[in-house]
Amino acid sequence: MTYQVLARKWRPRDFQSLIGQDHVVRALTHALQHQRLHHAYLFTGTRGVGKTTIARILAKALNCVGPDGQGGITATPCNACRVCSAIDAGRFVDYIEMDAASNRGVDEMTQLLERAIYAPVDARVKVYTIDEVHMLTTHAFNAMLKTLEEPPDFVKFILATTDPQKIPVTVLSRCLQFNLKQVTPQAIAQRLGQIAQAEQVEAEPAALQAVARAARGSMRDALSLLDQAIAYSGGRVDAQAVDQMLGAIDSTLLVQLLDALLERDAARLLALADAMAERSLSFAQALRDLASLLHRITRRMPMSGAWRSGSRPTRCSCTTRSRCMGATTWAWRRTNTRDSR
Ligand SMILES: Nc1ncnc2c1ncn2[C@@H]1O[C@H](COP(=O)(O)OP(=O)(O)O)[C@@H](O)[C@H]1O
Ligand SMILES: [Mg+2]
Ligand SMILES: [Zn+2]
Repeated sequence: MTYQVLARKWRPRDFQSLIGQDHVVRALTHALQHQRLHHAYLFTGTRGVGKTTIARILAKALNCVGPDGQGGITATPCNACRVCSAIDAGRFVDYIEMDAASNRGVDEMTQLLERAIYAPVDARVKVYTIDEVHMLTTHAFNAMLKTLEEPPDFVKFILATTDPQKIPVTVLSRCLQFNLKQVTPQAIAQRLGQIAQAEQVEAEPAALQAVARAARGSMRDALSLLDQAIAYSGGRVDAQAVDQMLGAIDSTLLVQLLDALLERDAARLLALADAMAERSLSFAQALRDLASLLHRITRRMPMSGAWRSGSRPTRCSCTTRSRCMGATTWAWRRTNTRDSR
């Protein structure tokens, strides 16, 4: 059997397995339960947060017939009937996914709309998903307006975009809009842990946390990075291998950088930068890691007592105690740093 990348293999097949989008799931579940369904939805959010996934689950929810073939619209599609399986496999005639990035023009849109008025072949509801919809031309958007306002009862439109600002207000106002959130690093790391376990891959929690942070809110990016990390480490995914793979700098180097900054030691800073260049570490990534480290330190400062009066480190000569580097680094040293990589 050919290898299927983790992101595709682990695409959630029902609303319960989606992570981080509870607000959308709740609204759609209620709408499905009470059969109060809008005819056009717009899902917005950055790459890899679940737009296409939700569109497919919604298409299944609208068309699932249940294992016995008798079921109706449901918030919990069975994933077993012929409709669910066909939609999952991408071969259901009445579920149409179109990529607006490669079908931008008015001709493609007109063709799609002409076909939309015909009754579904095999479904209750024909679902059109238009991905990256902001890429459509103005003419194509205009061609859509009428149908988007009053489509036949058996048609639903799902528009998805990473860039809602580029969508004309005339289109926005005809859709029910849901903003998908970036997934938090904690939620991503937890999910990666479950997937690694199911895949029987041994993975250090710190390694998964590093992957989760590097994915910057995108579950797809996280899974692609995990794939890469498994290949890179050839089995056990450990933190060091992941850091190397990501070109991330390890926390000891970050501390050395902070120390040199604290000492205002430019020569040492430059030497550290040279050492980083030698190891082909990414400076941009280093700056991001440093920002994230400082953020984590500042969050811990109140707990470590650095805010209390009289606790200012002696070496620090500035007056803005709460923000200064000295206090921050001092807090960093006093903080248990084991898990704050
Ligand atoms: N909210 C989520 N919960 C769990 N997995 C997700 C989520 N969002 C994305 N994924 C993972 O990322 C992959 C791509 O998601 P997709 O829905 O296609 O993203 P996009 O928002 O770019 O359309 C999915 O196959 C799935 O593995
Ligand atoms: Mg998508
Ligand atoms: Zn089904």
